[in-house]
Amino acid sequence: MLKTLIIKDKIKKFNKQIQVSGDKSLSIRWILLASQAIGKSRGYNLLMSEDVLAAVDSIKKLGIKVRILKNYCEIIGSGINGFKYKKNLTINARNSGTLGRLILGLLIKSPKKIRIIGDKSLSKRDFSRVTIPLEKFGVKFFYKTKNKLPLSILGTKSVKGIKYLEDKGSAQCKSSIMLAALNASGTTSIKAKKSRDHSELLFKFLKIPIKIKKTKKYDFIDIKKPKKIQSFNYQIPGDISSSAFFIVLTILAKDSKLLIKNVNVNPTRIGVITILKKMGAQILLKNKRNYRGEKISDILIKSSKNLKAINCPSKLNSSAIDEFLVIFLAAAKAKGISYFKDLSELNQKESPRLNWGSKILNMMGVKTDLTKNSIKIYGQPNLEITKIISVKNYLKDHRVFMMSTIAALTLGGKWKIHDKDSINTSFPSFLKIIKDIKN
Ligand code: S3P
Repeated sequence: MLKTLIIKDKIKKFNKQIQVSGDKSLSIRWILLASQAIGKSRGYNLLMSEDVLAAVDSIKKLGIKVRILKNYCEIIGSGINGFKYKKNLTINARNSGTLGRLILGLLIKSPKKIRIIGDKSLSKRDFSRVTIPLEKFGVKFFYKTKNKLPLSILGTKSVKGIKYLEDKGSAQCKSSIMLAALNASGTTSIKAKKSRDHSELLFKFLKIPIKIKKTKKYDFIDIKKPKKIQSFNYQIPGDISSSAFFIVLTILAKDSKLLIKNVNVNPTRIGVITILKKMGAQILLKNKRNYRGEKISDILIKSSKNLKAINCPSKLNSSAIDEFLVIFLAAAKAKGISYFKDLSELNQKESPRLNWGSKILNMMGVKTDLTKNSIKIYGQPNLEITKIISVKNYLKDHRVFMMSTIAALTLGGKWKIHDKDSINTSFPSFLKIIKDIKN
């Protein structure tokens, strides 16, 4: 497969219906929790991407039986802490921060050292956000470079619940501690800044003793060690983070309409819709329903001619954290100066996305004022790119690739977008869906 995508033409008007692949956060959580259940669980519409397959490989290495069949994935769990493995085990989390951080929570009782490695991008990312709380449970970590992969974890025999303040708004940190709590006697209490709540909803559905008190800024979560987790089937809904690329594609395309079916619109994930609607976009949630605590809906989007700038409230940051690159693209076409602040977490992603977003906008001829944690975007409603743009995405960030593709299809110019295979981490069918929309 050619690794560079060349785009020379804007997308023509369309009126289509699509379905995106399964939610990445839920796919990885289902795999990890099914590995702790007793007996056979089935996951339907599991995302078949490198991040998720890395999760499958990891639990297989930990002695769990997994079968991937045509319509579902089957996991035969051996109960909480039922992992069985040989000495000197290495687990490769590849590009996945979610897998690398969450799995550590499940390993706090591991009697033998386990080494966790990742790719170039993951090896640059911070692990202190999980090693610090997990050390409070008595776990030991060994590194070459402190708080970075590769690292080794050595568990501890008797584990007691901890109290922890999670103040970054990181669902990965919160979930890692929640998974660790499955092994801890007494109560584990987390005061967590608001972030996606899929783990909490799954714990409730699985009848794991969990109490949650919500305030404006923080959730107070108490978890008690469950006696066991029953095996469970789960139908993974579509990923809002993957949908976001098509939402912005439709908004910026001419006279077009798109219906995205069966998307997870969990309120902690739909910041992208709230922000784009505030900017004047036409987005409608249709056919809303509940599924095991999650909210599912179809999303109808229409092209928007008159986008306006936004002074984005920071309280929306966490619920849109993976979507800012495409949101910046919409801001580049909006009337006025948009301002996004308190976004230092964005530079902690697969690549420093606050910097990358700014860089790509500048390449497109859009002025930005960038600081360590904020960006001002000087929108151009009549933006029309005529030059050649080459995006070399040295950390192979899937979302940088997809954002560039949407820019190329809606704003003109001749684009050479490198590292096409990066989409395999989260959304292997991305280009196929673009083709379906075009034809
Ligand atoms: C995720 C949480 C977010 C998000 C990531 C997936 C999760 O990261 O960016 O893509 O599944 O918990 P943080 O928790 O570090 O903000």
